[in-house]
This record gives sequence, structure tokens and C-alpha cells, in this order.
Amino acid sequence: MPTDARLQALAEAYGTPLYVYDLGAVEARIDRLRSAFPGAALRYAVKANPAACVLRTMAAAGVGAEVITLGEAVRAHAAGVPAGRTLVGGPGQDERLRAWAAEAPVAHVSLDHEGQWEAWRARAPQGARFLVRVHPGLDPGTHAHLATGAAGSKFGLPPAAARALATRVQDAGRLAGFHVHAGSMITDVGVHQRILEGLTPLFRAFPAADTLNLGGGFAVPDFPLEALAARVRPWLAQHGASLILEPGRWVTADAGTLLTRVLWRKEGPPTHWITDAGMAQLLRPALYDAHHPIRRVGPSAAPDGHGDVDGPLCENADRLGRERTLAAGPGDLLAVERAGAYGFAMASNYASELRPAEVAVRGDEAWLARRRETPDDLMRPEREAASSPRAD
Ligand code: LLP
Repeated sequence: MPTDARLQALAEAYGTPLYVYDLGAVEARIDRLRSAFPGAALRYAVKANPAACVLRTMAAAGVGAEVITLGEAVRAHAAGVPAGRTLVGGPGQDERLRAWAAEAPVAHVSLDHEGQWEAWRARAPQGARFLVRVHPGLDPGTHAHLATGAAGSKFGLPPAAARALATRVQDAGRLAGFHVHAGSMITDVGVHQRILEGLTPLFRAFPAADTLNLGGGFAVPDFPLEALAARVRPWLAQHGASLILEPGRWVTADAGTLLTRVLWRKEGPPTHWITDAGMAQLLRPALYDAHHPIRRVGPSAAPDGHGDVDGPLCENADRLGRERTLAAGPGDLLAVERAGAYGFAMASNYASELRPAEVAVRGDEAWLARRRETPDDLMRPEREAASSPRAD
């Protein structure tokens, strides 16, 4: 990861708030996944961080993409991810994404339900194979917003319905296998153990099924990859299946840092540090109560304080961290860590905030990967609309 001196220099050169991605760290994570799961097809979940510099790193490492929107598909393709390593998933899969996928043609589609199969049948990508997404109906032990496999969630089909759909896909000669993504930030491999147990009858019932897609969801910083691999390996051998994984966060989260400057320090108790980044730049603390380590970068004359690191906007949820101890005052630089996944990806223009610049680092090199937005970027779509012909 970049040294503090480097982070300070980047903040000086490009301003704050600023996302910094260490592409070498992304590559190291890919290597670790590869050594834990040799032979697995890695399909990076683009939603975690769709920056072109990140996607190009995936493409160069031979990692494919899991895409759920046309935008993700186009970005991954533009960055060099081949269609043959692209998997379309998600509960939507609208007509525009399907048309793109058929044209590409993509290698895999994960079907969320029967209606999607009907739609794809009309124009299936040539050679594409389909996975049926199974709803495992179990509690993955994560935040409710991230528990996609929990009872009542909208994702996939319960085993009996999955079986009925798989029969139809198999009859069409297109069945690859089954897919489960039980949630995000999973820490316990027992969850995957139960998933494998739930899938066993399905793989027995469909000899054509030769692919298991276990999704992503590995918690950072330290999901026990090797322990999972030790459970998955014999299962795959027993069922003659190959493995697809769709990690997002695990690959990019720790490679990314959000740099922000303290605008003001309000003494408490509690102390409030008002920073130039908040929920518009990093939504996760507001939306999921997510914890991101925050530390000061560089020297400071300020004494220790105890309190909240707050954003600049007008709501209580606009904060980066609660109950922190920091010695930081106005002008000081803070590093919000573990911000390389679902950070910029979920940034918004709320309160007409300008989305931050993104910088890529690899070894001694650093470059601007995306410029900071300007007020003009905010107004351009309206200006262009105003000059387009009226419909009435
Ligand atoms: N595969 C599927 C089908 C998914 O829905 C997801 C994430 C992934 C793979 C990648 O999961 P990961 O390895 O990144 O955990 N915005 C939330 C996370 C939402 C995850 C949505 N699906 C957050 O900031 O925590």
C-alpha cells in the first residue's frame, strides 16, 4: 500500500476527497484467490468497483466479469474483459442487457427465475450456458441489507422451483449448473458448507450440471479462503463439477483508500470532525453502519479527541465513523481505509456534491484514473435536454 508520504503527496497533487487504488494490491488478492482455488473461473463482481483501471487489471490477470447491468457489461468489455469470460446475473437482466449479451455473445447467464429464461430463449447468446440461481433460505449472518440468501429475499428460486426451471434449461441443452450467492461480508465458512449440502440433491438430479457458481461475499479483511477451499474441493470432485467464483469486495476493498481533509473540529463531547467527504462519497457507514478504519496521515498539532468523523451534509447519517479517537484538526488529512469496494461505486451527487477524483498506484507510478467532477458536469445533462426537440 502507498506510504503516508505518498498519500500526502497525492492529496496535494489531486485534492480531496480522493480515492486511491493500489493495483498491485488488487493483483496480490487475485493471486491469493488463485492459489486457494486453482482452476476456478474468477468472475469479478463489477459492481464493487467499476473503475477502468481496476477492470483492466482484472482483464490483464485473466479474470472475467460478473455483470448485472448494461453499463457494467460495456465497461468491462471496454477494459478488455472478453465476452467469453463474462457472466450475466442479477434479478433484472433487462432487454438492453440481453441484447448486448446476445451480440457479445457472453459465456454464462445466471437465471434468477423462469420469466428470465423465457426472455433469453427468444434470443439466447450463441453457445451460452445457463446457471439456475438457488435461493438457499439461510441466514448468512451479515447485515440485513446484504443477506441475499435469507428467507424472503428476492433472489433466485427455492430448490423445488430451481429444479423445475433446470429441467427446462436442460431439455434445451443449455444447463451449466447452479448458482448461489448467499450474501456479502460472510465470515463463516459454515454458511458455504450448508449451501453445498443444499445443492447436493440438485447436482445429483441433473447429471448435465457440471458447474457450481458459489458467488462472492467473502468478508474483508480476512475471510478464511483456504478453509473454504478445503470444503469445496472434495464436493467438486464428488460431483465432477468445476467452480465459478464472483468475488467483488475481497479483491478490491483493501486496495482502496479514501483521502479526506478535516474542515472543522467542533469540541464536544463528543468531538465532531467535519470532513470534506461523507455519505455522498462513501455511503457504507450511513447505509449499513459499516466500520471503516480511519487514521490521520502526516503530522498534526491537534490534541486527541473522541467522537465522530462527520461529512459536510445536512443529515445525521452523513458520517464516516463513530466513536473514534483521533488527534486531528482543520486541514489535517485522514485516510478512510478498506474503501476500494462499494466506495466510489456507490458515490452520488446528493446535495450536488461532486464525485471525487480517483488515482491509481502501481509500484512507484501513480496516475489520475478519473478526474474530479465539476459543477459543469452536474448541469450538462439538463442543458443538453433543454436543447433537444420537444416531444409535444
Ligand atoms: N455475486 C452476486 C450475485 C452478488 O449479488 C454480489 C454482490 C457479488 C457476487 C459480490 O459480492 P462481494 O464479493 O462483493 O461481497 N453495497 C454493499 C454490498 C452489496 C453486494 C451486492 N451483491 C456494501 O457496500 O457492502
